[in-house]
Amino acid sequence: MNDFLDIHETDPAALRQIIDSAIAMKSARQGRPKGAPDDEQPLKNHMVALIFEKPSTRTRVSFDVGVRQMGGQTMVLSGADMQLGHGETIADTARVLSRYVDMIMIRTFEEATLLEMAEHATVPVINGLTNRTHPCQIMADIQTFEEHRGPIKGRKVVWSGDGNNVFASFAHAAKQFDFDLTFTGPQPLDPEPALDGLYTIERDPLKAVEGADLVVTDTWVSMHDPQSARERRHNQLRGYQVNDALMGRAKPDALFMHCLPAHRDDEATSSVMDGPHSVIFDEAENRLHAQKAVMRWCLGT
Ligand code: CP
Ligand code: NVA
Repeated sequence: MNDFLDIHETDPAALRQIIDSAIAMKSARQGRPKGAPDDEQPLKNHMVALIFEKPSTRTRVSFDVGVRQMGGQTMVLSGADMQLGHGETIADTARVLSRYVDMIMIRTFEEATLLEMAEHATVPVINGLTNRTHPCQIMADIQTFEEHRGPIKGRKVVWSGDGNNVFASFAHAAKQFDFDLTFTGPQPLDPEPALDGLYTIERDPLKAVEGADLVVTDTWVSMHDPQSARERRHNQLRGYQVNDALMGRAKPDALFMHCLPAHRDDEATSSVMDGPHSVIFDEAENRLHAQKAVMRWCLGT
């Protein structure tokens, strides 16, 4: 049994196995209705708790559908409706849930909550996003890149925008999957110092994207950011919008990704999101396949 807490804490061979398994499982069910079971039922008789302390569309639905396709059952829980919201400790919640369910996925604010859950649960725990990281997203992104363009090893990935939680998981992945990562964004929104050495900085976005195989961005205001910071962030980030002029400086066959939800015509223009470089909906679909592979790896099934 394994936890899936962060990409940099997961062995590169395991990460590779997860990507390969995701691609194989996706291909094995091509053309089937979404509710049809997979031939293999590796989660048969397994119950999975999905805990959300923040909103979610993709993570909620892709985990729920993925568990069901693999023969398991899910319970979707809102943190606010649990005793967590009334002061029960994370540790006690983890111990109790471990008596009822076989695996826990949690989306939360502080990374400490995830780590405490993992420490005290006796079943695998999966990180469904914290203020610091979003590893399941980046597994789907690697799968998407490799399906379109082959191995990501040695390729150039450019992140334009806020040095946030999704960027952090990209930085962890750059090391584990051995690709080059460039960050372009305003200095006040630089990634956290713990990520230093995993990427290079180029403040000029037009220079940064030269030779890029993949250009990525994300919302300028994350769920954990105060709404009061919205205007300041927009002013700081406006010059880092991914638009046709920016994509035009990347390689001609460069891909564009965004984890979604997007604020169209803020961090990326609709012309890019719906344009020929964009693979954003393949990326969203691959959350399903990548997470199914993560769950199998966690349970060893
Ligand atoms: N990309 C992502 O995690 O989306 P949701 O917030 O909708 O789950
Ligand atoms: N950076 C975003 C990602 C949403 C999937 C956030 O944390 O809100």
